[in-house]
Amino acid sequence: MKEQLNQLSAYEPGLSPRALKEKYGIEGELFKLASNENLYGPSPKVKEAIKDHLDELYYYPETGSPLLKQAISKHLNVAPSRILFGAGLDEVILMISRAVLTPGDTIVTSEATFGQYYHNAIVEAANVVQVPLKDGGFDLEGIINSIDNDTKLVWLCNPNNPTGTYFSHEDLEDFMARVPSHVPVIIDEAYFEFVTAEDFPDTLAIQQQYDNAFLLRTFSKAYGLAGLRVGYVVASEQAITKWNIIRPPFNVTRLSEYAAVAALEDQDYLHEVTQKNSEQRQRFYDIPQSKHFLPSQTNFIFVKTDRVNDLYEALLNVGCITRPFPTGVRITIGFEEQNDKMLDVLRHFNY
Ligand SMILES: Cc1ncc(COP(=O)(O)O)c(C=O)c1O
Repeated sequence: MKEQLNQLSAYEPGLSPRALKEKYGIEGELFKLASNENLYGPSPKVKEAIKDHLDELYYYPETGSPLLKQAISKHLNVAPSRILFGAGLDEVILMISRAVLTPGDTIVTSEATFGQYYHNAIVEAANVVQVPLKDGGFDLEGIINSIDNDTKLVWLCNPNNPTGTYFSHEDLEDFMARVPSHVPVIIDEAYFEFVTAEDFPDTLAIQQQYDNAFLLRTFSKAYGLAGLRVGYVVASEQAITKWNIIRPPFNVTRLSEYAAVAALEDQDYLHEVTQKNSEQRQRFYDIPQSKHFLPSQTNFIFVKTDRVNDLYEALLNVGCITRPFPTGVRITIGFEEQNDKMLDVLRHFNY
């Protein structure tokens, strides 16, 4: 076994609603608001697409998801040769790490960001530099200053999970102008569709200038397909050709591909969902206690508190399962009814 696996443990999901009910003696329904899933679910057209292809289950998928590649290519106006799919971004992150990192290399990222950048770097026996957050968000200046000759990958998450914070187009442009051109910068925009900030980066435009800027997007969040596992990277043709060697031949399932095409085609539904999310998100920032919340551009909010366990349990007591972190609790924005309950707790909590 690789020695470095001793530094890691397998992913541990939080307790299931059933286990939580038992542990805390809770009666009534519990809502899972811990993993930033889209509670509205996917477009109804997704179910139709899946039903239409149920007779094809015995076939392997078409390698490389060509139909979905065409659809994304048209949607983003990028050449199909610059797109590569994974079974969720989790697999894309794994493939990039596996393709790029050798023992002793370094990745640079932020502290308090998506854990899979770290996890996959350690598996490849790479070193990880985690730059502390600045004002609750990515410290791009600190990240630039941490890049050295050993740096083989830089991971940015925008908006960031778990903080919900973002950096602007101007910030990213300035950053890319200063990163050495041989260092790949991976920009994970898993929550892109929920963003409303007008100065959010146009990362595709930035890619036209910088071959080392790579973009990640997923169908797991706003498109509501977390259970089907589809994510992708948009990168230079040269990088995609190499990473495609790592990709397991049939990684995205047949049904996942059809489902993602149908979800992408229904932009009206996507707009409806993201609009509802923005309205519900605003309700949290309308209360005076929002001074304890980091500003979010996503479908979740990071609530800062020293009393993490107490807040987690108070939210659980009103039926909402959230996700505790060392410096606060991350809540996924729910339906109006669940948000009413969480807002009531947040209004009265002693932070
Ligand atoms: C920032 C970020 N990147 C990637 C992922 C993984 O997404 P996927 O479901 O596409 O594997 C997540 C999931 O929570 C995420 O928050």
